[in-house]
Amino acid sequence: MIKSKRQFPDLLHFASLIEWKLPTLFRTRAKIARAVTIDDLAKIAKRKVPKVVFDYVEGSALDEVSYSRSRQVFNQVEFTAHTLRDVSKIDPTIEIFGKKVDLPILFSPTGYTRFMHHVGEPAVAAVAQENNMIYSLSTMGTTSPSELAEQVPDVRRWFQLYVMQNRKDSMSVIQQAKDSGFEALILTVDTPVSGIRVRDIRNGLTIPPRIRLSTVFAIAMKPVWWLNLFTTKKLEFAAFRGWNKSLVELAAAIFDPSTKFEDVKWLQSVWSGPVIVKGVQNLEDAKELAKLGIAGIILSNHGGRQLEKGPVPLELLPLAVKEIGVDVDIYIDGGVMSGQDAYAAVAMGAKAVFVGRAYLYGIMAGGERGVQKAVEILKRDFINTMALTGARNITEVQKIGAKLRA
Ligand SMILES: Cc1cc2nc3c(=O)[nH]c(=O)nc-3n(C[C@H](O)[C@H](O)[C@H](O)COP(=O)(O)O)c2cc1C
Repeated sequence: MIKSKRQFPDLLHFASLIEWKLPTLFRTRAKIARAVTIDDLAKIAKRKVPKVVFDYVEGSALDEVSYSRSRQVFNQVEFTAHTLRDVSKIDPTIEIFGKKVDLPILFSPTGYTRFMHHVGEPAVAAVAQENNMIYSLSTMGTTSPSELAEQVPDVRRWFQLYVMQNRKDSMSVIQQAKDSGFEALILTVDTPVSGIRVRDIRNGLTIPPRIRLSTVFAIAMKPVWWLNLFTTKKLEFAAFRGWNKSLVELAAAIFDPSTKFEDVKWLQSVWSGPVIVKGVQNLEDAKELAKLGIAGIILSNHGGRQLEKGPVPLELLPLAVKEIGVDVDIYIDGGVMSGQDAYAAVAMGAKAVFVGRAYLYGIMAGGERGVQKAVEILKRDFINTMALTGARNITEVQKIGAKLRA
């Protein structure tokens, strides 16, 4: 029988393996630093903000099936792995409109970002700038286009627009984007009416708001969140500052259910830069938009927040790439929670992906620091998957591809 030779325990060696750290007053910072996945950030976020806020971010429409299907499809991805290739140098950069970005991941437009954390849109844009990524500002942003440009002057920025009831109002918003150095317009087309978001209705987060006493108590339990919010500038749709309209009037003005393909043409005629259409959910629409000479489309179901049980963008992607991929940049969003998800979409032909909740969990967890951590996690996974599949650059990622298991 083989016997192990005994020795005195080497406690010093054991101690050297432990990460010794003094307890810190900045516990959230420490937790963010330790987060390994976007889900870890979501868990921190859930403790930091009132339920009404977390539900607004995490929730989607009706039974939330669209969103879970988007997530599920990412679980069906199978990568192709090539070994014995020199992957000591990995280049995840791509060019968008002739300029390099460091990752094929962009920040989705999300309304009301200062509701999630008082630092809001400029903090997200600052992270985008720091990491050479593109930030999209929502029409429903709580920071105006000019404020964003002033605070984060060097970020590459796109502006998300809705065609409004009154085209003159749309023009005034477009003008703000033009004057503030926004490079491209994203026209969101999956919102002829608002989706039915059960969590928000239950929490009273409706237009007009119907906040119940229980929600107020829940908010009171998060003093840091509300103190920060109430001691910084007013929460408002900043692009419409000075309009002097109630929330109900504003909401009625912002969405025009009669928006048509002709409005896309109109937008192309008034905006000299690229126009990208967001919320494309079927092939016919994609082909129609390609005929209009649109610069890009985003296959998206608004993160499951609009039409419930609609198509899953990742499943639509290969068909769209085959039909119009040569003429139009095809982006995709919805349920991207890791760099592997982003890799899968790019390998299946997307130019790049957009992320929404992934960075919103970061901002809720810890402002700009949390968003930076989200980017680090996405980037780490993306580059790691490139190395493990043997792809040294994005051309190789697309050549190697990925498939969905039945
Ligand atoms: C809290 C929140 C607010 C959003 N606001 C907008 C918006 O103002 N305009 C828009 O076009 N899309 C909006 N979206 C949709 C995102 O742009 C994007 O399509 C979606 O978040 C992608 O899914 P993901 O969150 O799973 O990444 C919002 C999404 C969330 C989660």
